[in-house]
Amino acid sequence: MLEIQDLNFHYGAVQALYGINMSMPAGQITCVMGRNGVGKTTLLKNIMGVESSSSGSISLGGQPVLGLPANKRARAGLALVPQGRMIFPKLTVEENLTVGLEARADRKRVIPEMIYETFPILANFRKRNGGDLSGGQQQQLAIGRALAGDPKVLLLDEPTEGIQPNIIQLIGEVLQKLAKERNMAIVLVEQYLDFVREIANSFYVLNRGRVVASGVTAELSEEVVSQHLKV
Ligand SMILES: Nc1ncnc2c1ncn2[C@@H]1O[C@H](COP(=O)(O)OP(=O)(O)OP(=O)(O)O)[C@@H](O)[C@H]1O
Ligand SMILES: [Mg+2]
Repeated sequence: MLEIQDLNFHYGAVQALYGINMSMPAGQITCVMGRNGVGKTTLLKNIMGVESSSSGSISLGGQPVLGLPANKRARAGLALVPQGRMIFPKLTVEENLTVGLEARADRKRVIPEMIYETFPILANFRKRNGGDLSGGQQQQLAIGRALAGDPKVLLLDEPTEGIQPNIIQLIGEVLQKLAKERNMAIVLVEQYLDFVREIANSFYVLNRGRVVASGVTAELSEEVVSQHLKV
């Protein structure tokens, strides 16, 4: 579904991503791991088109997207749940979800009931300001907002960061369901190893802007963990 080839990226003169090759299939959860500052968020920003890649290619369902601006990539089926959630604090839950509808290719402008069924708390708090929700509720809203765009590929940047265990579990179940029942490609940036082991099919490990290990999650070795993931 999502293919990345020989991707390079620079912040000004400083190279941040080096020759990235990744393949994120539909119906699967692919995890991108790595310590703080190795380039995980930078990679997602390159995929979304928030940052312009220096060279390489990114394709979505066989179509190149690297030349497209972020809004067109969203229309093409990419959605990002950003690190820190980035909820609009002065907009209500409903209004935050409505913003997500902008990305839809079918121009439907009604919040899909499926979002409220997936995250019932959002239905209860429709009229509440995003800024008044707890961290875990905001994370559900951020995922709901991304789903409102009816994406083919859902990118999530450390969705478990600062979230309590029962919500982490809910998020894990939702992601597995989206992959299985809707055939989405889920791209999960995550440092919480137990969560990765529980839900991801395959993994890539980044270190200093390079892929240093990859494989199926069942084969994620202690050696890789201690070399590239433990602090
Ligand atoms: N806007 C920017 N301008 C210049 N350098 C940046 C910018 N954003 C990030 N960097 C640098 O690029 C590198 C990768 O940062 P990035 O945010 O992608 O890391 P990360 O893996 O997401 O880290 P974390 O786990 O802390 O979220 C870091 O060295 C960071 O300092
Ligand atoms: Mg990050």
